[in-house]
Amino acid sequence: MTSTPTADAQTVTRALTNATIAASHAPSIHNTQPWRWRTYGDHLDLFIEESRTLAVTDPDRRLAILSCGAALHHALISLAADGRQATVTRHTDNARPRHLATIRVDARIPVEPAAIRHLQSVALRHTDRRAVSGTPVDADTLRSIAAAVESQQTLLHVLRPRQVLDLASASDHAHRIESDDEAWQAELLHWTGGARTLGTGIPDAVIPREASPTTVPGRDFGHPGDMAIADTHDRTAVFAILHGPGDGDPDWLRAGEALSAAWLKATELGVSVVPLSAAIEVTVTRETIRHLLSDLGHPYLVLRFGVLDHDTAGPSHTPRLPADQTVDHR
Ligand SMILES: Cc1cc2nc3c(=O)[nH]c(=O)nc-3n(C[C@H](O)[C@H](O)[C@H](O)COP(=O)(O)O)c2cc1C
Repeated sequence: MTSTPTADAQTVTRALTNATIAASHAPSIHNTQPWRWRTYGDHLDLFIEESRTLAVTDPDRRLAILSCGAALHHALISLAADGRQATVTRHTDNARPRHLATIRVDARIPVEPAAIRHLQSVALRHTDRRAVSGTPVDADTLRSIAAAVESQQTLLHVLRPRQVLDLASASDHAHRIESDDEAWQAELLHWTGGARTLGTGIPDAVIPREASPTTVPGRDFGHPGDMAIADTHDRTAVFAILHGPGDGDPDWLRAGEALSAAWLKATELGVSVVPLSAAIEVTVTRETIRHLLSDLGHPYLVLRFGVLDHDTAGPSHTPRLPADQTVDHR
């Protein structure tokens, strides 16, 4: 005789399924969605999906693991909004490097209004590569975003104007190195451009039609996209570096959780975030970025913060894979 799951077991299963759905909205390098979830009755296992990592752009998998960290944080946001306490184990087992984390669902907890707000931001958050407007990001807003980063044991260093010029030159250098590399170009072409009906990658609809007159260059996608952008300079943009003391898988996972926390907070405060990873991808420019931190830590990701023109529509959302390609039910 098969036993009928209790009502609570069913709600736990539903909360875990909701968590994987929320996680699917997470940002990822080139929208690769390099995560795979395994769901059990009372817990979720998070794995890195090697077939969706970037062998040329990201050979150490640092940006893929960072993306998985963002998915992990999105899942936890969903569980909190479902009134579920969750315990996370972040794995450091060298024998099973694909297995990144386990989320175990414990007791019921009251649902805080903040948890609902964060979950709403999960659906709203997206990458908007338009030039920033003339409205500056105020200091209190930046402090709140930095606090969200710190809540995930990661740090945010806001660059001073002089350092922004050093970042601009490092980003430019990284783009030149990458665009001279045929294998890198081929990988970029595989993941970006076109209409992207298959659920991954960055469609032309969200890639700018031309480069805007910025100090720090945005990602060179190797071809113009379809998105019209204003011809304004990003003078009010703020550039910052996510960083921390370690430079291994657990640190990159944490950095992804911090990216998610910061981006959701920024979304709630009306601030746009654009990750800029080219200077992190190339070893020599990553060293330059490390020096910008006065060698006090390892850089994980560069972020552009800015206020966008709310009167014009932003880009559409990027596609996502169907659940059967990111979730296995056990
Ligand atoms: C680790 C990481 C690195 C990224 N690097 C860049 C980048 O260099 N330039 C850029 O325009 N977007 C970058 N992105 C944003 C992704 O392209 C974006 O998250 C993805 O296409 C999904 O789209 P969405 O954020 O609108 O949901 C990065 C995102 C992550 C998580």
